[in-house]
Amino acid sequence: MTHLTVNGKAHDVEVDPDTPLLWVLREWIGMTGTKYGCGIAQCGACTVHVDGIAMPACSVPVSAVEGKQIVTIEGLAQNGVLHKVQKAWLDHDVPQCGYCQSGMIMAVAALLKQKPKPSDADIDKAITNICRCGTFQQVRAAIHAAAASA
Ligand code: FES
Ligand code: FES
Repeated sequence: MTHLTVNGKAHDVEVDPDTPLLWVLREWIGMTGTKYGCGIAQCGACTVHVDGIAMPACSVPVSAVEGKQIVTIEGLAQNGVLHKVQKAWLDHDVPQCGYCQSGMIMAVAALLKQKPKPSDADIDKAITNICRCGTFQQVRAAIHAAAASA
């Protein structure tokens, strides 16, 4: 039995310890906001926070995150109030198909926690998520807007 804390709620799951966290989130816990893209830690579609750090859930075994605070896109808004990155995303109409966006938003939220006012170079270095719709210019503008907001 693996004990997980996801978005502040405890879950006990009976899975092989090597099972990637992404499968557990989606198939066992029913949190399908976190997406599968490449499965090899390259695209960022599956990004979640583990103790506040952005991580690719497709490549983290569930045994490695037992006892840690896992936050998914479903847990980013607090008490019905959107996170400032989510608000900026709406204001800038960032999503197109939307598939990559939950991972992108989680990566940006983690970046702003570490670097509240990132430069373009900081953004290019930290936000390596792949978007097949090519939303990158909007992403950069929305990150600066979120950084400038309260
Ligand atoms: S699905 Fe995890 S990084 Fe692509
Ligand atoms: S919005 Fe379509 S893949 Fe990024």
